[in-house]
Amino acid sequence: MKMEKDLIITIDGPSGVGKSTVAKSVAKYLGLTYLDTGAMYRAIALQVKRNPLNINNDEELSSLLANTNIKFVNNEDNVLIIFLNNEDITDKIRSPEISRLSSDVATKNLVRKKLVEIQKEIGLNGNIVVEGRDMGTYVFPDAKFKFYLDATIEERAKRRNNQLTQSGNNIGADNMIKEIELRDKQDKERLESPLHPAPNAVIIDTTNLIADEVINRIIAEVKGE
Ligand code: DC
Repeated sequence: MKMEKDLIITIDGPSGVGKSTVAKSVAKYLGLTYLDTGAMYRAIALQVKRNPLNINNDEELSSLLANTNIKFVNNEDNVLIIFLNNEDITDKIRSPEISRLSSDVATKNLVRKKLVEIQKEIGLNGNIVVEGRDMGTYVFPDAKFKFYLDATIEERAKRRNNQLTQSGNNIGADNMIKEIELRDKQDKERLESPLHPAPNAVIIDTTNLIADEVINRIIAEVKGE
């Protein structure tokens, strides 16, 4: 298949649906760059945690953001490493606390403005698979391929806890369902770019699918099969 130079594939969806696993594999298979925009919101959350402030105060938030530099590097194993002011924070942004705080900071206009600017700049070169909440609706409305992954809340809680087990952060099924419900509500009801499928996105209910099935479905769509 001949790849277009400015190909952008967006993958949006709620917490715990498996976007990262899928987006990473699709990017690898198609030889595209992978961008995890949730990691950017998580980086800001870590910055807020380390420099406690009232995120509702625009002046305080703006001065923190002015001192916040976020960079991505794909290492030799094609793993995305995220840097906050030159510190590798890849392993420090996956805790339940940061998940919660990232959803809070993501409601703030100032935060979104800064991160969307960076995302658009990275997207300028195309050849990218971007995952997040507002990639197809707001950041890359002209993307050639848009996907929206969904799954029941029970299934998403199970997937998220399985992921967290590896780092010793499993919080149990009931707690995780509550966490995800809260984040869904906040991500879907916020005023700034709330989570919803773009009108022209392909919606995939992944509840009963394994990751490979979702990946193959996306690749087939992109290849026009
Ligand atoms: O995908 P994730 O769980 O790593 O995202 C963390 C939080 O960041 C999520 O609760 C909502 C927010 N987010 C967002 O608002 N917009 C994006 N494009 C990506 C993430």
